[in-house]
Amino acid sequence: MFDDLKRHAAKVADRPVESLFDDPDRAGDFSVRLGDLLFDYAKTNIDSTARGLLIDLLDRADVAVKRDAMVNGQAINETEGRAVLHTALRNLDGGPVLVDGDDVMPGVLETLDRMEDFARAVRDGSFAGQGGPITDVINIGIGGSDLGPAMAVKALAPYHDGPRCHFVSNVDPADIADALRACDPETTLVIVASKTFTTIETMTNARTARAWMGEAVADPAAQFAALSTARDKTDDFGIDPARVFGFADWVGGRYSVWGPIGLSLMIAVGSAAFRAFLRGGQAMDRHFVAADWPENMPAMLALVGLWHNQVLGHATRAVLPYDNRLARLPAYLQQLEMESNGKGVTMDGADLAGDSGPVVWGEPGTNGQHAFYQLIHQGTRVVPCEFMVAARGHEDELHHQHQLLVANCLAQSEALMRGRDLDAARARVAGKFEGDELERQARHRVFSGNRPSTTLAYPQLTPEVLGQIIALYEHRVFVEGAVLGINSYDQWGVELGKDLATALQPVVEGGDAAGKDGSTAGLVNFLRRNGL
Ligand code: F6P
Repeated sequence: MFDDLKRHAAKVADRPVESLFDDPDRAGDFSVRLGDLLFDYAKTNIDSTARGLLIDLLDRADVAVKRDAMVNGQAINETEGRAVLHTALRNLDGGPVLVDGDDVMPGVLETLDRMEDFARAVRDGSFAGQGGPITDVINIGIGGSDLGPAMAVKALAPYHDGPRCHFVSNVDPADIADALRACDPETTLVIVASKTFTTIETMTNARTARAWMGEAVADPAAQFAALSTARDKTDDFGIDPARVFGFADWVGGRYSVWGPIGLSLMIAVGSAAFRAFLRGGQAMDRHFVAADWPENMPAMLALVGLWHNQVLGHATRAVLPYDNRLARLPAYLQQLEMESNGKGVTMDGADLAGDSGPVVWGEPGTNGQHAFYQLIHQGTRVVPCEFMVAARGHEDELHHQHQLLVANCLAQSEALMRGRDLDAARARVAGKFEGDELERQARHRVFSGNRPSTTLAYPQLTPEVLGQIIALYEHRVFVEGAVLGINSYDQWGVELGKDLATALQPVVEGGDAAGKDGSTAGLVNFLRRNGL
């Protein structure tokens, strides 16, 4: 599938990317605009031949047909027999969306209304705790039931005018203990967020929170809400159906922040900002469905990803937001991308011909610069970098500081591309050293350059822009998965560890470790001797 591209990549491998800018139109031609968003991929080694071949991939893999099947509610998640319709959650005024002949939109909009009523009541105090208006919300969930709202609440901190929000995900008791210590049970709302309402971490933490609240208030269940597809299980837990916000199985966990799983976000920022977030996502959906491939931002972001990962063989990619409020975005994208495209078989069960999707990692700039950029600049493995940067922050009085942030972001992509050759390195140390020592010192200061990066630039991190960015990455994952022939919407790879954890529970509680491998039994014994 990638043979032509690999041949072309070999031909241009030694070409300095900087030389591509001999074409004065390079920056404009190798970038995509959508409204106020600019995605620049000019600092990669993609030329018009490579781009043409990459776009051919989309046609060969029937990506347009698969995309239309997704947004039209067909069961494209074939291993689970489900539609994939997170786009319906932000289809605020887009008309009907049919699943098995039924329009899902009335249900989506009705749930959105109910969420808004509840969020408003929490925010204005008409829904109160047993000791007064709600001051704190604890969202208990994990994976997609945590990362989306946790990422977005931090991202939209300037819009946060509701109660404080805490996110508890880990079964490590330290996580819930720290959150409970910060809250007053009489004025805390606990949201149990779990699509299945069976996830062991979430249900364990939810029971711990209920016991904590039960020691302080007469009716702990009255301060609980649930976000789930499993109404029977929320009933069993004792949560009043009036505070249960359901969604359908066609919303994947890692795609669920747009619906009920986003309730904590809505309580934090209010329904107007939440709707703006949805509108941003919807704008990206419309663009993804309508734009020709070369102008299609998610498609081009995906093709750049495939070029680096599949054609050039770079195993990881770094997401580097120069926007501190996007600090949780790399973790969010890790689940989105790696749980979606970290698969070894194609939809029909055949082995994948090449590699699965890449390892995704990152941290906000400028922090990363003082930690791992050393490897990005001079390590032996190339790490394609995805920079993100806003034209302005929310701190107008500190705009000069924001300008410093932007200068750092742009400098990094420039440095990665240009590098520094031996002569320049020698010139840098000339005068300080001479002879062999000068040569030795100079070699340490050489940067190979030609390291690819892209930059996503936007005016400001508003709710609408955040919605655009998240939907952009969702569709990028879809396109990459569709080209690879992967089912991006199941996650069987998390099952085995869960099964074995259940089987190990009695062993760590004191049972017989016989039958376990020597390493596992030895670790259990060591931990038991030390207080397990
Ligand atoms: O274990 C993986 C996973 O199923 C994710 O896909 C999901 O986001 C997370 O667990 C949480 O699941 P739930 O919302 O059902 O608790």
